[in-house]
Amino acid sequence: LSDVVGVDIGGTKVLAGLVAPDGTVTATVRRETPHRSKTPDVVEATIVEAVRELTDGRSGLAAVGVGAAGFVDAAGSIVRFSPHLSWRDEPLKAALESRLGVPVVVDNDANTTALAEMRFGAGRGYRQVLCVTLGTGIGGALVLDGDVFRGGNGMAGEFGHMQVMPGGRRCECGNRGCWEQYSSGNALVREARELVAAESPTAFLLRDLVVGDVSRLTGPVVTEAARAGDPAAGELFDEIGSWLGTGLANLAAAFDPEVIVVGGGVSEAGDLLLDPAREALRKSLTGRGFRPEPPVVRAALGPDAGFIGAAVLARERAARPQV
Ligand code: BGC
Ligand code: NA
Ligand code: ZN
Repeated sequence: LSDVVGVDIGGTKVLAGLVAPDGTVTATVRRETPHRSKTPDVVEATIVEAVRELTDGRSGLAAVGVGAAGFVDAAGSIVRFSPHLSWRDEPLKAALESRLGVPVVVDNDANTTALAEMRFGAGRGYRQVLCVTLGTGIGGALVLDGDVFRGGNGMAGEFGHMQVMPGGRRCECGNRGCWEQYSSGNALVREARELVAAESPTAFLLRDLVVGDVSRLTGPVVTEAARAGDPAAGELFDEIGSWLGTGLANLAAAFDPEVIVVGGGVSEAGDLLLDPAREALRKSLTGRGFRPEPPVVRAALGPDAGFIGAAVLARERAARPQV
C-alpha cells in the first residue's frame, strides 16, 4: 500500500493528484466545486469521485489528504465553518473515511500549501514563513520555527478575514471589509465585470475577449488581457496587488517573516500581481529603511501546492498507525 492522494477543495475548483513520496505528481484530476447552495454530501461525493478516478484499477491506496477551504478543528477532522462552501461543523474526515475505506487527514488548504512549499518549494531553507493564497478568497498560513502555527483551536491564519476596511464590502463570512474582498480572485473578477458592464473605454480588450458577455470574465481572462497590454486589466492587477502588499506589510509588522510566499490561482499572474504588491509593501512596511524587507515570491509549486501538501500530511499522519 503506497499510493497517496492529495485533494485541494477550493471555492471554485477541486484539484486532486496522486503524489509520490518525493512530491512528484503522477496524475491529476480537476472538477468544479459544487456551488455553495449544494449540501456537504454533494461536495464529498465529488471528492470521492476524484479519488476513485485517480486510483482506478489500482489497489494500493494507503491514505488521502484533504486541504479544505475552511476553518478546520485542531484534531483535523471537522470543518467548523467555510465562507465559500456549505460546511458548518461538518465531520469531513469521518464522512470520507466511511466512503473511501482508508485513513483521511484534513487540514486548511492554505496550511497544506505552506507545507508543500516548505518541503519542496519556495519555503525550503527558511524557518519563519508567511504564506498567503489568492483564489476565491485569501487563505493564510504562518510557519513559525518550521511548523505551521495552529492557534488555540486549529484555526489560526485566517488572514483573508482581517477587517481592513471597517464598514466596507460585505464578505461571505458575514462581516464587512475583509481583506479578501479587496485582494483575491473574486475581487479581481468582480472589478473586471463592473468595468466592462460600465462600458469603460479603456477595457476594450476585456470586452472583446468575452464578446461583451461579462459572465464569461474569469481570472485567467483578465490575466490574458493584462499580458496583451489591456490598460484596464493592468490597472486591476495594480489595485489587487497594491491591496495585497498593504496587507502583507501589516502581517510583516506582526510576524517579521523571512520570506512571503504567494500561491493560489491568482498567483499564476506572476509579477503582474507581485510587482505592485512588492511596491506597496516597500512603501508601507513599518520601520522601513531600518529593517530587511521580506522578499515576496511566488509559490514554486503553483496551484498544485495545496493538494501536494495534503498528500504530504496524509503520508506522515495517516499512512502509519494512529497513536
Ligand atoms: C477561508 C479560508 C481559506 C481561504 C482560501 C477563505 O475565505 O476562510 O479558510 O483558506 O478562503 O481558500
Ligand atoms: Na490557514
Ligand atoms: Zn470575511
